[in-house]
Amino acid sequence: MALKSTNPTTTNSWKKLQSHFETIKGKHLKELFDTDSNRATDLTIKWDDFYVDFSKNRITDETLACLIDLANDVDLKDAISKYFSGDIINATEGRAVLHTALRSPKTTEVFVDGENIIPKVFEVKEKIRGFTEAVVSGEHKGFTGQTITDIVNIGIGGSDLGPAMVVDSLQYYKNHLNTHFVSNVDGDHYNEIIKRLKPETTLFVIVSKTFTTQETLSNANSIRAWFLESLPLEAVSKHFVAVSTNIDSVKAFGIDEDNIFPMKDWVGGRFSLWSAVGLSISLAIGYNNFESLLNGAHKMDKHFRDTDFKENIPVISALLTVWYNNFFNAESEAIIPYSQYLNQFATYLQQGIMESNGKYVDRKGNVVDYQTGTIIWGEPGTNSQHAFFQLIHQGTKLIPADFIGFIESLHGNKDHHNKLMSNYFAQTEALMNGKTKAEVLSELSGQSTSEEEKDKLLPFKIFEGNKPTTSILIKKLTPESLGKLIAMYEHKIFVQGIVWNIYSYDQFGVELGKQLAKTILKELDSGTSASQHDTSTQNLITHFRTS
Ligand code: F6P
Repeated sequence: MALKSTNPTTTNSWKKLQSHFETIKGKHLKELFDTDSNRATDLTIKWDDFYVDFSKNRITDETLACLIDLANDVDLKDAISKYFSGDIINATEGRAVLHTALRSPKTTEVFVDGENIIPKVFEVKEKIRGFTEAVVSGEHKGFTGQTITDIVNIGIGGSDLGPAMVVDSLQYYKNHLNTHFVSNVDGDHYNEIIKRLKPETTLFVIVSKTFTTQETLSNANSIRAWFLESLPLEAVSKHFVAVSTNIDSVKAFGIDEDNIFPMKDWVGGRFSLWSAVGLSISLAIGYNNFESLLNGAHKMDKHFRDTDFKENIPVISALLTVWYNNFFNAESEAIIPYSQYLNQFATYLQQGIMESNGKYVDRKGNVVDYQTGTIIWGEPGTNSQHAFFQLIHQGTKLIPADFIGFIESLHGNKDHHNKLMSNYFAQTEALMNGKTKAEVLSELSGQSTSEEEKDKLLPFKIFEGNKPTTSILIKKLTPESLGKLIAMYEHKIFVQGIVWNIYSYDQFGVELGKQLAKTILKELDSGTSASQHDTSTQNLITHFRTS
């Protein structure tokens, strides 16, 4: 059954939120803490190894109650059950959205077109396990009998970002294989990677759901040509495998059927790292760790599906985005992991969130008259403190931020970890409290500067504070906890889409540029006139061709 379609702005809860916003917009977070001694405890959700403190957000119990009413008014419960049971909730592409099925236990039943898909999911997982074990143990040899030392994942978008982010994040758990990622059609990208590699000891994993993507096919073709400069055609089967839904095109590319790891169209590219798209992850960290990643995600699935909204981490987190986006007019959200391992996490979420919820048409096909998807950005702390935190503290924009940190560090350097986490705590405190005029004055009073100088400096040194943050504190970065964290954001994306009444699982917005690039490429290759373009584009093309 299709998702229901409710314009959120017509609901009673939205109207209540509008008037409630008027009473809360001027309130300072400090005041909210001063008037409620239980605030921190009441607005914290403890679940498994996650401690999620929402209390430094500009909300009260009443805000939360109204937001949860909104979730009920748009029938979120019904949508969640459709999501998990395989209804065609990606209606514009006529597909179910079942990345959750990829991490479900063997006993689960999920039907697509009348067939329980779980046995096939497990068949593919077994294939991933078998292949991983053969490569990691050295049993799978290259054409010349040498063992594989390097893996190159060739893919882009969801066929790159998820595996690349997870492999980087879980590098502590890695085995001896070196894993590389080639994504950009920029030929310098693949050339920089292969210049360090020997074809005899390298395994290439071509990942493309559609197997039509220009970047991936160009890279795969160029890399294969480089490979064939030193090894014969028969060697390809020992060194090239592919992950795709498009089996015919993979075979036409020259990859043996045995070397194809299939995926299904009910897995969206940006949610596909749990499928065979995760092959590079499994190779890099071993199948058991890959399985733990999936188990973690499944635990978060259960939490999301079965927990009351008030205690539900992805639901509250998504509703807060709606609160800031649609009532405070905040345009972006920052993701700040206090872990260098999560260096690529914000980049990964940019695709997940912005490709999903960057939509201006609602589920009835009408142009919305309210804001939808937010701009996502971020970098790890503490580096980001020395880069863009100035703007979050003293700029003119409201930027709600998620702070992600771990109680234990992996290498166990307590001195560094305490320094790192003291910055995490201090920044959320500073963003909330700011620094008042009185505090600045008392700070300046101990200095020898003249009174006149002090007065001049005063306005620049004041921090207004009242900047919202959510603190996500996790025991330790493990495959399982990372699985939970990723799944948390996946469900957040889903809830946002339901509230905004948009379709989160298509991505037509990326097509137009691709189409135009095809036309321009023909012109660049053939040297024909670019006269049908606007004058700016035409001049640029001409300048490129003739300079
Ligand atoms: O950029 C659009 C997109 O379709 C993404 O959604 C997808 O992850 C990426 O291209 C790669 O697609 P494919 O896996 O089919 O090569």
